[in-house]
Amino acid sequence: MRVGMLTSGGDCQALNATMRGVAKALYNMYDDVEIIGFEDGYRGLIYMDYRIMKSSDFSGILTVGGTILGTSRTPFKEIRIPDENGLDKVAAMKQTYAKLKLDCLVVLGGNGSQKTANLLYEEGLNVIHLPKTIDNDLFGTDVTFGFQSAINIATEAIDCIHTTASSHGRVFIVEVMGHKVGWLTLYAGVASGADIILLPEIPYDLDVICKALRARNKAGKRFSILAVAEGAISKEDAALSKKDYKKKLEERAAIYPSVSYELGAQITKATGQEVRVTVPGHTQRGGEPCPYDRVLSTRLGAEAAALIAKKKFGYMVAYIGDDVKAVPLKDVVGKLKTVDPECNMVKEARMVGISFGDR
Ligand code: F6P
Repeated sequence: MRVGMLTSGGDCQALNATMRGVAKALYNMYDDVEIIGFEDGYRGLIYMDYRIMKSSDFSGILTVGGTILGTSRTPFKEIRIPDENGLDKVAAMKQTYAKLKLDCLVVLGGNGSQKTANLLYEEGLNVIHLPKTIDNDLFGTDVTFGFQSAINIATEAIDCIHTTASSHGRVFIVEVMGHKVGWLTLYAGVASGADIILLPEIPYDLDVICKALRARNKAGKRFSILAVAEGAISKEDAALSKKDYKKKLEERAAIYPSVSYELGAQITKATGQEVRVTVPGHTQRGGEPCPYDRVLSTRLGAEAAALIAKKKFGYMVAYIGDDVKAVPLKDVVGKLKTVDPECNMVKEARMVGISFGDR
């Protein structure tokens, strides 16, 4: 039994924990299993850059962040484009798989990596996908590994900002990762008691935000904290065509590093209040996985091994309800899981007085 494994796209905390789950379950099931680890994601599969792993490679890594295999971004839209030397990447990956006589390939990755995994499955390779991302935006699974660990870090960052914001009586914006979705900001914002939460799924109105800030001042609150998703968007910008919004972002980038800085300047101009912006950035993907993610990863990994044993390929191992389930890749690929603006969590957050900057 020869199993290839790779980690692709942006890293997160529980990649090693998940690989360990797969490997330990396989080693317990088979005497003759050999795991081939590809270096730096699909790059390793394309260019035959790999390591034959030993079982000891998977020991002591449950708590270690990052990925022992390394990772890289191989954008799906470029996968069919030959490299600078004219190499057909898809054909190269298939050749590596055949040359190494792999029985299957386990891919740990987010949306883009999932698309490539599905493509390889359609091309005849035995593929299993494990849902990785701090963004929690993979369709078909309630939760992705990395998400909870990132929530902890973003929450701690906002907790720390609370004390300094309170001392100085300032408005603070904490910008939270999440790419085009607001899961991480929503959870970290609620967990840390942010006063205003801005998500890409709920476009904001500057006047509404300023009104909420003034109301807090009037109520004698010395400070305010905004948890702002890196993809947050104003109502005005949300009304633009894709092309015009792209242009707007290019113009903004020449003045402000991100949406939070633009918003901070707008708030100061409108209210005269001092605003500070904090961007925890990649710290949200760093450090050790939290206990929740260690458990989740171990379960997902073990289930991936069970699928391999059953020769059930072309699936993502998902977490649904309180159970681990195999979901066909064809049912989930290319779909984004976004926050429903009408979901109970948003409603409940509004009930405790959190503003989403929209009304
Ligand atoms: O997808 C994970 C993520 O951390 C997003 O939240 C963020 O937008 C992006 O990756 C950052 O990518 P990079 O590490 O390439 O800067």
